[in-house]
Amino acid sequence: MKPLTLALAKGRILEDTLPLLERIGVRPQQDLTRTRELRIAAEGPVGALLIVRSSDVPTYVEHGAAQLGIAGKDVLREHGSGTLYEPLDLNIARCRLCVAAPVGWQPPQRRRWRIATKYVQQARDYFAERGQQVEIIKLYGSMELAPLVGLADAIVDLVDTGNTLKANGLEPIAEINSISSRLIVNKAAMKLQAVAIREFTAALEAQLAR
Ligand code: PRP
Repeated sequence: MKPLTLALAKGRILEDTLPLLERIGVRPQQDLTRTRELRIAAEGPVGALLIVRSSDVPTYVEHGAAQLGIAGKDVLREHGSGTLYEPLDLNIARCRLCVAAPVGWQPPQRRRWRIATKYVQQARDYFAERGQQVEIIKLYGSMELAPLVGLADAIVDLVDTGNTLKANGLEPIAEINSISSRLIVNKAAMKLQAVAIREFTAALEAQLAR
């Protein structure tokens, strides 16, 4: 049976996940925080780790390039997770998806609100449910800048400590969802490599319960 491959994102999720993976015996053969290689061999329950952009993790797993992945619920909601199994909430990299606006912002009465975000689908759904007309401006990062320079009225973005909002004169005005990292599994692999995947999931779950 071929060894399991796990797709992970650099940054917050990698930092929070590596210690957990180490505790279940995953031993990457290189220092993941330093290497420029994107596929890293490992010993233990997974044979390789793929280092990809966070929004690409579900794509690698959906197409079977990795049987397993760890991705934020923000990314999974945006991707549409019906094509993947999501057996475990790892409860790490916790944050909130929020609407944020300049401190003291008065919503415009006569025109649509302009909302800058990379979470286009979740922002659309959120405002549509409330009957609020919005124009969504798609960005790929640094959303906090958009209201400062008049590109948008408000943003939809992740908030953890709130420091980035504060540093840019913004404050949260509504919470859309709470977010944490999830284990995701390719549907075909769940059948073909059922035992290995169940053991991996159970080991993670046992660590989380400690
Ligand atoms: C996220 C998010 C905010 C920031 C919030 O960005 O987009 O900018 O963290 O964290 P805080 O509330 O603790 O200040 P991240 O650094 O993950 O990078 P990104 O812009 O690539 O999403």
